[in-house]
Amino acid sequence: MNLLVEGAAVNERYRAVVEALAGPGWGVFPDFLPRDQVRELARECRALWDAGGFRHAGIGNGPTLQVNPEVRTDRVMWLNDDLLTPIQRQWMDVLDDLRLAINRELALGLFEFEGHFAVYPPGSYYRRHLDQFKGIGLRTVTAILYLNEEWKEEDGGQLRLFLESGEESPYVEVQPEAGTLVSFLSGSFIHEVLPANRERMSLTGWYRKRG
Ligand code: OGA
Ligand code: MN
Repeated sequence: MNLLVEGAAVNERYRAVVEALAGPGWGVFPDFLPRDQVRELARECRALWDAGGFRHAGIGNGPTLQVNPEVRTDRVMWLNDDLLTPIQRQWMDVLDDLRLAINRELALGLFEFEGHFAVYPPGSYYRRHLDQFKGIGLRTVTAILYLNEEWKEEDGGQLRLFLESGEESPYVEVQPEAGTLVSFLSGSFIHEVLPANRERMSLTGWYRKRG
């Protein structure tokens, strides 16, 4: 593939996300990142997990941060911009190009990305929630990259994204398959992670706008 064609393909990849956010407000993008890069991120996630780098995920943030196992039982490790490995840096660069594409087309004024690895040990879940906290509407676009090869229906752990408000809302389910990116407007879609029967890894984060 020559550089021009590759450049066009890359732009195409960003455009698909921008159009999804501008239209329905959500989208699922299989094979968003090449397999070998996903595999490397998965390897690093596993190594950090084995080294004990993960913490119980909280709800809320700052002084209102709480660990509440009735809501979520996953573990997370936040990415620190100063300590990124080369492959993590590459992914953050992709996310930054995507951020610029979103800003150019949708004028959302996104200015930074905060992200973490997440591990759901078998049996873990994250109940229905919205990615914005009361009083702080800064998380604007959610972007999740899954790291799990050959995920099967019976492995559970699907992301269930509710398309309307209300208990009876229709929903879509996303398999957390390696390389799949899911992105949605953080304040618009209630979602949950169904209990995973198998360890489930992802790189999850949010574009923020200035408060
Ligand atoms: C979250 C979340 C969904 C997923 O971390 O806020 O909803 O599919 N994650 O991992
Ligand atoms: Mn969420």
